Amino acid sequence: MNSSDPATETAAGIPRLPDYLLRTYRWAYLDRRTLPWLDRHPVVNAILWGNAGRLMRTACAEFSPGQRVLQAACVYGRFSPLLARRLGPQGALDVVDVAELQLANARRKLAGFPQASVRRADLCQPLDMRYDGVCAFFLLHEVPVRERRLIVDNLLAAVAPGGKAVFVDYHRPHAWHPLRPVMHGVFRLLEPYAASLLGTPIESLSPRAAAFDWQKRVLFGGLYQHVVAIRRPQRAAE
Ligand SMILES: C[S@@+](CC[C@H](N)C(=O)[O-])C[C@H]1O[C@@H](n2cnc3c(N)ncnc32)[C@H](O)[C@@H]1O
Repeated sequence: MNSSDPATETAAGIPRLPDYLLRTYRWAYLDRRTLPWLDRHPVVNAILWGNAGRLMRTACAEFSPGQRVLQAACVYGRFSPLLARRLGPQGALDVVDVAELQLANARRKLAGFPQASVRRADLCQPLDMRYDGVCAFFLLHEVPVRERRLIVDNLLAAVAPGGKAVFVDYHRPHAWHPLRPVMHGVFRLLEPYAASLLGTPIESLSPRAAAFDWQKRVLFGGLYQHVVAIRRPQRAAE
């Protein structure tokens, strides 16, 4: 595939895989040999230093049964079933990802949840729906700055008035954090875009952020951030 091709879709209207995904994360998300190894809770939990359950539960708890929620990109482990269960049979979970291999895997994990649907789209492109909530779980650190800005902007645009966006991701750990040098090495080796997220407030990534009230919590010595943006209801004149 020509990475300089400006078109975002193939002739068949299928979103092209972003260049950064092909270049940096082929082994993690586009290879059917590694997928069964990575998509295991103990592996995800080890990668997140034992925090996977807590981070996933805290994110899911931001949403309520009956809501329509967008999960921005597939996530290894139990996240999608947990979120679908949280929304319940009256809710709707829309999982969007650009990689067909990941979508097929998410469909398999969500087979018992009729409230969940899975579809292919590039989150760098505007979304065609509005949601009560959108959730990006460890997506932003894996995309370059330009695409990160587009994704945050598109996700905020997809939040209905009164709805919320939830971003769970890496953050700059406290200076004394014993894992700080380890994570520095991991990011240098495997996650080349992560460093540009660590000290950047997510609300600085989109001009649309001004229409939201933002709250940020850091967890595990600052290594993780849980950010909630609530869109203020529109006034009658707006
Ligand atoms: C959510 S992120 C990382 C999640 C976390 N590391 C985990 O445990 O799975 C990984 C997903 O993002 C998807 N992705 C990356 N860029 C995307 C984009 N522009 N649009 C849609 N999906 C995207 C990849 O295809 C992959 O399935």
